[in-house]
Amino acid sequence: MKHLLDFQNIQKKEMENLIEEILKVDLYKLNQIKSFTLLQFNENSTRTRLSFAIAAKRLGIDIVESTDNISAKSKGEGLMHELETYESMGIETVVIRSSENNIEDYKNYKEVAIISGGFGNSSHPTQALVDAATLMKLGKFNYDIPVTYVGDLKHSRVFSSGRELLNKLGFKVGVFTNEELIPENTDGLNIFNSWDEVIENSGSLELLRVQKERIENLSSFNFEKYKKHFQLSDEVLSQTPPDFAVFHPMPINIGIEIDEIAAKNEKFKYGEQLKFAIPARIISYRYALGNI
Ligand code: CP
Repeated sequence: MKHLLDFQNIQKKEMENLIEEILKVDLYKLNQIKSFTLLQFNENSTRTRLSFAIAAKRLGIDIVESTDNISAKSKGEGLMHELETYESMGIETVVIRSSENNIEDYKNYKEVAIISGGFGNSSHPTQALVDAATLMKLGKFNYDIPVTYVGDLKHSRVFSSGRELLNKLGFKVGVFTNEELIPENTDGLNIFNSWDEVIENSGSLELLRVQKERIENLSSFNFEKYKKHFQLSDEVLSQTPPDFAVFHPMPINIGIEIDEIAAKNEKFKYGEQLKFAIPARIISYRYALGNI
């Protein structure tokens, strides 16, 4: 083995040989053999990151990882040059998680396929696919309102993509939360004002975490008041029909959106959603690569 730190101890002939060998590498041929996916997670994630990584491995796609912190973005590089670089290296898909709401920036570029792993509060389509598959499997598409979202709708990308997908499929979407956490655009939503209304009119509910990291005036947010009205308690859950289901995209904050006893109830079906984490990402890769 040899260090490559400078050229001091390398002979002229050896250097010429290195350059000639570089010219012989057929990048086009290499890129035909293996495709790469770049996982670019600029916010924390457990389920989305791992399931995309495992899905890629199952499909025989090689994984590379980066974040904005360690990329050349901070040196002023534009998106076009970034994407051209990826393409030249055989990267076909990029999975991005970002705090920004800038999916539109990517739509004009064709160099690589971009898959949202969660952007700001606006986009998390693969979680919406996980949730829709779960709703379909558990028979919730037999209801006019298959699911009512309860909790922090305003800051939730899970909700944004979920409502978009369900509305597109022809379903109404229920919502139940306080005034502070309702989104500005309420088109296609059925706003409920009590747990009774939720239970009577929807096949299931999906709890959403209160996103402390995105609430502007967190110090003035009244958690006790929120819990009193919108925490799913064992008492409320006991009033639901036997086939009622409660979902959660996770991570779950027990003691805020759900109480400890309700969290152990068999109607709490987050495990069913988890079963679709990898299948949804496998299908997302196949869609992005033009194989579906
Ligand atoms: N549901 C979801 O997006 O979870 P992660 O943040 O762990 O990826």
